[in-house]
Amino acid sequence: MHWPSLIITALTASFANGQGDFSTPNATGAGGWEDAFKKASSMTANLDFDEKAFIATGVNGPCVGNIPAIPRLGFKGLCLQDGPLSLRQSSYASVFPAGLTAAATWDKDLMYERGVRIGAEFKAKGANIILGPVAGPLGRSARGGRNWEGFSVDPYLTGVAFSQTIKGTQSQNVQACGKHFIGNEQETQRNPTTDSNGQITQDAVSSNIDDRTMHEMYLWPFAEAVRSGLSAIMCSYNRVNQTYSCQNGNLMNSLLKTELGFQGYIMTDWGALHTDAISSTRAGLDMLMPGPLGQNTSVFGYNLTALVQDGSLPEWRLDDMVKRVLTPYFYLNQLDYPTVDLDTAQINGQTWGEDIPKYGYSFNLGNLSDINRDVRGNNSAFIREMGAAGAVLLKNDDNLLPLKDPKRIIVIGNDAVGTTGGPYWPDEINVVMAVGGGSGTGRMTNLVSPLEAIKQRSPNAFIQALTDNNGIYQSTMNTLYPAADVCLIFLKAFSGEGSDRQSLLPDYNADSVVSNITSNSAICPKTVVISHSTVPNVHPWADNVTAIIAAHVPGEQAGNSIIDILYGDINPSGKLPYTIAFDESDYNAPIADFTNDNNGDMNLWQSDFTEGLMLDYRYFDSQNIQPRYEFGYGLSYTNFSISNLQIAAASNISTYPATLNSSLPPPGGNPDLYTALATVNVTVKNTGPVAGRAVPQLYLGFPSNPDSGDTTSIPPKVLRGFERTASLKPGESIVVQFELRRKDVSSWDVVSQNWAVPVGSFNVFVGQSSRDVPLNGTMSFKS
Ligand SMILES: *[C@@H]1O[C@H](CO)[C@@H](O)[C@H](O)[C@H]1NC(C)=O
Ligand SMILES: *[C@@H]1O[C@H](CO)[C@@H](O)[C@H](O)[C@H]1NC(C)=O
Ligand SMILES: *[C@@H]1O[C@H](CO)[C@@H](O)[C@H](O)[C@H]1NC(C)=O
Ligand SMILES: *[C@@H]1O[C@H](CO)[C@@H](O)[C@H](O)[C@H]1NC(C)=O
Ligand SMILES: *[C@@H]1O[C@H](CO)[C@@H](O)[C@H](O)[C@H]1NC(C)=O
Ligand SMILES: *[C@@H]1O[C@H](CO)[C@@H](O)[C@H](O)[C@H]1NC(C)=O
Ligand SMILES: *[C@@H]1O[C@H](CO)[C@@H](O)[C@H](O)[C@H]1NC(C)=O
Ligand SMILES: *[C@@H]1O[C@H](CO)[C@@H](O)[C@H](O)[C@H]1NC(C)=O
Ligand SMILES: *[C@@H]1O[C@H](CO)[C@@H](O)[C@H](O)[C@H]1NC(C)=O
Ligand SMILES: *[C@@H]1O[C@H](CO)[C@@H](O)[C@H](O)[C@H]1NC(C)=O
Ligand SMILES: *[C@@H]1O[C@H](CO)[C@@H](O)[C@H](O)[C@H]1NC(C)=O
Ligand SMILES: *[C@@H]1O[C@H](CO)[C@@H](O)[C@H](O)[C@H]1NC(C)=O
Repeated sequence: MHWPSLIITALTASFANGQGDFSTPNATGAGGWEDAFKKASSMTANLDFDEKAFIATGVNGPCVGNIPAIPRLGFKGLCLQDGPLSLRQSSYASVFPAGLTAAATWDKDLMYERGVRIGAEFKAKGANIILGPVAGPLGRSARGGRNWEGFSVDPYLTGVAFSQTIKGTQSQNVQACGKHFIGNEQETQRNPTTDSNGQITQDAVSSNIDDRTMHEMYLWPFAEAVRSGLSAIMCSYNRVNQTYSCQNGNLMNSLLKTELGFQGYIMTDWGALHTDAISSTRAGLDMLMPGPLGQNTSVFGYNLTALVQDGSLPEWRLDDMVKRVLTPYFYLNQLDYPTVDLDTAQINGQTWGEDIPKYGYSFNLGNLSDINRDVRGNNSAFIREMGAAGAVLLKNDDNLLPLKDPKRIIVIGNDAVGTTGGPYWPDEINVVMAVGGGSGTGRMTNLVSPLEAIKQRSPNAFIQALTDNNGIYQSTMNTLYPAADVCLIFLKAFSGEGSDRQSLLPDYNADSVVSNITSNSAICPKTVVISHSTVPNVHPWADNVTAIIAAHVPGEQAGNSIIDILYGDINPSGKLPYTIAFDESDYNAPIADFTNDNNGDMNLWQSDFTEGLMLDYRYFDSQNIQPRYEFGYGLSYTNFSISNLQIAAASNISTYPATLNSSLPPPGGNPDLYTALATVNVTVKNTGPVAGRAVPQLYLGFPSNPDSGDTTSIPPKVLRGFERTASLKPGESIVVQFELRRKDVSSWDVVSQNWAVPVGSFNVFVGQSSRDVPLNGTMSFKS
């Protein structure tokens, strides 16, 4: 969603390439929504044109997005709220760990439970739809300003995290809205430039993505999500192949509603529509957000009525839009739903009486004696646990960590302190970076800082702190006495919606902070760097410090989560969901930036995804670039061995999945893509001194397939399985089983427009990171 203000730009009616004709598939409720679809259809049959139009059009109201109620039919309307990790426009909601932290846990159960707990808070506040989770950006560019809202640059890991989150959230009767569809891989020029009349003078960046890359990278998580019953999808601000996503028939009609059999509805990102109602609904759009903002000015709204009446918009298309919106409402039983907490109206600057549209509809509002509901329950314990589970121990010389009852501690850095953070842009100088900014942020009710948590954990220690990053130099260091058992340096790297990062180094003079501390070994003989960061950081000083923890974006229990790791109350098991390079220049696929090349060309901003499948570890592997810390890496306070690789694979199977016996597949696409074709087992053993959890990972090296004529470069290995084990005692072992589905061993064949299992031998690698794969074997399905 756009932040901070909404700009609805002018309209360009065109039927350019990619906008499609009225071939938008009608929803049928297939795949489990049949009963709800019947209810939605019978309600649709009872609506007049205006009522139908305003089920597809946002209006002014208490929430960040609002669909008005129709009291005569008992429809309570829909309250749409940000965002992926917290109910942002509210009071007394928890701020959960970000998607990036969820990915770094590599724990499917925690991912699901996070979805459950976020969902329960949304429901208790009366929010029908959560604008999340995020799988776009996937994280193509390391500097991407919103990557932390999503999960991992690896599509398989993101696919699991995205779908686990959706299942958890929807188990609480809350509709998930997967976003941003698709290719929303940078914030820079994500929206067009407009003049003072709102006319577009330069189009938004175009993500130019070839068909195979689309399927194997960016669409992959959305396919998993649709299969998991995702209710809604938000189309993105950017263009794809020169056409804005929200008017792109190849994206909405072909990929989502035909190939993936998506039965839910597609809404715009806030203000992302730059064309008229006909060409967008024709391309498959179902809902305009945020809508007319209380006036009769919407491209949808009464215009939809007029267009149906004059025959230019087929009534069946409007009906299909309405049925798609109403089906998840019935499926998730939202007829029976808590009222909207009026705190959100206060925070959004709405007065719940007067701004309700004049046409007589209303919302499912609570009342003033029931405002500011505290919906947090016991979620803080879970947030603390997950924040720790998503912290990655990168370096631990001399087994310095866990801390052994330190008597003298020096705490350094502006990331160690703070109580609240700003409500929408929490990049305040002296506040721990527990959450990023923009629509994906959360408002802190009770943020726990690292310094507070350390004081509580070590009540008798001598604790000194220097937390003004600009006040740390040799003379201030000399004011510290006595020398510390350990110096804890807290660094942060913030980002948020609307802009990308300019560097992968932590902010606020971080390099000087570290070099001042590490050059004073008399005071700080042992140093631990902890970074709270929305992006991969480079660590030029890595060799000069004793230990390093990437603490990611942990949410409101930031301080408690990190002391649980530092003091060993929790044995770290987090693994990097991205690669940490030696130099930033080692990464490929930078943000496309034409800011300084402006020649007035309307179509200047082009981002060609020519790297195809080669992102992050796939690229580093293929180019033999040594990472500092590789994808999948993370230390523990114990060690694990992995042994006994067992592979069982089906043989002589068909190249393509079984032919569908219907014109449209059920949600997620051809069900045979999800048939298991192989299992791989390994034995994991704790060989170290303390209990801990391991994260065995399975990677596949696909056979190259010159016969197909496809010259796409194939990565040496791609992630296709992972498990976070239960806690294993010293000496204890466990068998971990991975299941490979047809899709996991197929590549997208652009000629047949289908997933194809290649002929030849796959390499199977199992280990504890993308570079630590002690076990390998082969398997083949077709020879
Ligand atoms: C959708 O269903 C209507 C009948 O309700 C039919 O007229 C229309 O052609 C269908 N659209 C498509 C694309 O099949
Ligand atoms: C974008 O263009 C590429 C290159 O022509 C093509 O392979 C791909 O299918 C197109 N994708 C969409 C969604 O139009
Ligand atoms: C908006 O348009 C509707 C339908 O044309 C009309 O009934 C209503 O009075 C208009 N409202 C305003 C505020 O102009
Ligand atoms: C219909 O849409 C146009 C833009 O296409 C807008 O200018 C106009 O105000 C809309 N009409 C109504 C009644 O909302
Ligand atoms: C306000 O809402 C609460 C909780 O739903 C309800 O118990 C109470 O009766 C309501 N009060 C009024 C005045 O409507
Ligand atoms: C937290 O609250 C939930 C729901 O009220 C409950 O089921 C669960 O047992 C509680 N967990 C703890 C650790 O208290
Ligand atoms: C200490 O930090 C200051 C800037 O704050 C920097 O100018 C100076 O070089 C640093 N000193 C060392 C020894 O790193
Ligand atoms: C690391 O320490 C060495 C030796 O003290 C120093 O020369 C170097 O500048 C330090 N590197 C960084 C990045 O601080
Ligand atoms: C794990 O194994 C490595 C390599 O043998 C060793 O250096 C390290 O101390 C071990 N860690 C623990 C906690 O035993
Ligand atoms: C893996 O382990 C499971 C459960 O013990 C077993 O059913 C399966 O046959 C094993 N697969 C292989 C390839 O050994
Ligand atoms: C492979 O499968 C095909 C089709 O199912 C079958 O006709 C053929 O006999 C099989 N070949 C072998 C070697 O099993
Ligand atoms: C598989 O493992 C063996 C033994 O460690 C090693 O020699 C070989 O190079 C590995 N094969 C591949 C493809 O990595």
